[in-house]
Amino acid sequence: MTSETNTAAVAGTWKSGELELTRMGYGAMQLAGPKVWGPPRDRRAALAVLRAAVEAGITHIDTSDYYGPHVVNDLIREALYPYPEQLRLVTKVGARRTPDGAWPAAVSADELVRAVHDNLARLDVPVLDLVNLRMTDTRAAADLAGPFGVLAELREQGLIRHLGVSNVSAEQVRAAQEIAPVTTVQNYYNVANRADDELVDRCAEQGIAYVPFYPLGGFRPLQSETLDRVARDLGCTARQVALAWLLQRSPAILLIPGTSSVTHLHENIAAATLALPGWALRTLDTLAGR
Ligand SMILES: NC(=O)c1ccc[n+]([C@@H]2O[C@H](COP(=O)([O-])OP(=O)(O)OC[C@H]3O[C@@H](n4cnc5c(N)ncnc54)[C@H](OP(=O)(O)O)[C@@H]3O)[C@@H](O)[C@H]2O)c1
Repeated sequence: MTSETNTAAVAGTWKSGELELTRMGYGAMQLAGPKVWGPPRDRRAALAVLRAAVEAGITHIDTSDYYGPHVVNDLIREALYPYPEQLRLVTKVGARRTPDGAWPAAVSADELVRAVHDNLARLDVPVLDLVNLRMTDTRAAADLAGPFGVLAELREQGLIRHLGVSNVSAEQVRAAQEIAPVTTVQNYYNVANRADDELVDRCAEQGIAYVPFYPLGGFRPLQSETLDRVARDLGCTARQVALAWLLQRSPAILLIPGTSSVTHLHENIAAATLALPGWALRTLDTLAGR
């Protein structure tokens, strides 16, 4: 399987009104230092990954000003400003970082307004393309309504174009939809963690993009003999199988695999060219819930 051609376009794009995102995107979180704290080990390499993503045709980069904090947004601006016309920077608010590396919730009105302005300033844009409200440790609809209302108001003020929700239950998605249009849901989901199966299908029915975080397992990479065997039989890598499975799972799924390596970036993008046959899908189904 080719690993260096411009293949991001092969996975196609997803559209909602005037918003268009490549289904093969890139998650920038891993560009900060260890545990997403402080500067990257290799700044030039981090900048190179961002430029390589755009050169490969990716128009969907996922970030947050709390990655680093500030570090990842600063890298994006340094690598890519002035931004290509098609590029969409998707950010998230709702958490903050503490020096011990924790990610406590930050969903008061003051914190959310500050976070939106921090993202605007660090990315150096007049309006944010898409902002996800990231919830922490609560699946209750009532806990989301207030914070999402704050973001809906900032959208009315013209600071945000589109809104999404992250780390949320199906009830929280419904609660958000009663307040303002929901463009994306960003939750933990991958070939081995399919708890959101129903929500993925509901998003597809309702024209909402479902953007799985940890598509490759995140901080604990997916490890499975089954995945390795399928990859070996198809002549590709286990990561490519995991990403191709997500692309085939639903047309509403958009990918934002994270990496700090240009080589890994190209390997991941090339997953867009992989069509998983029926026997592979059936074998991968045995991974669900393990
Ligand atoms: N909304 C939320 O709450 C939330 C939470 C977590 C993440 N996110 C977003 O989701 C994105 C994706 O999540 P993630 O980056 O944490 O996890 P991920 O994409 O599942 O996995 C990233 C890890 O896999 C490794 N990797 C990637 N490609 C590889 C390859 N081809 N070969 C070998 N190793 C590879 C990376 O290491 P290398 O750097 O060495 O390649 C990194 O350690 C993030 O970047 C972030 O934007 C959102």
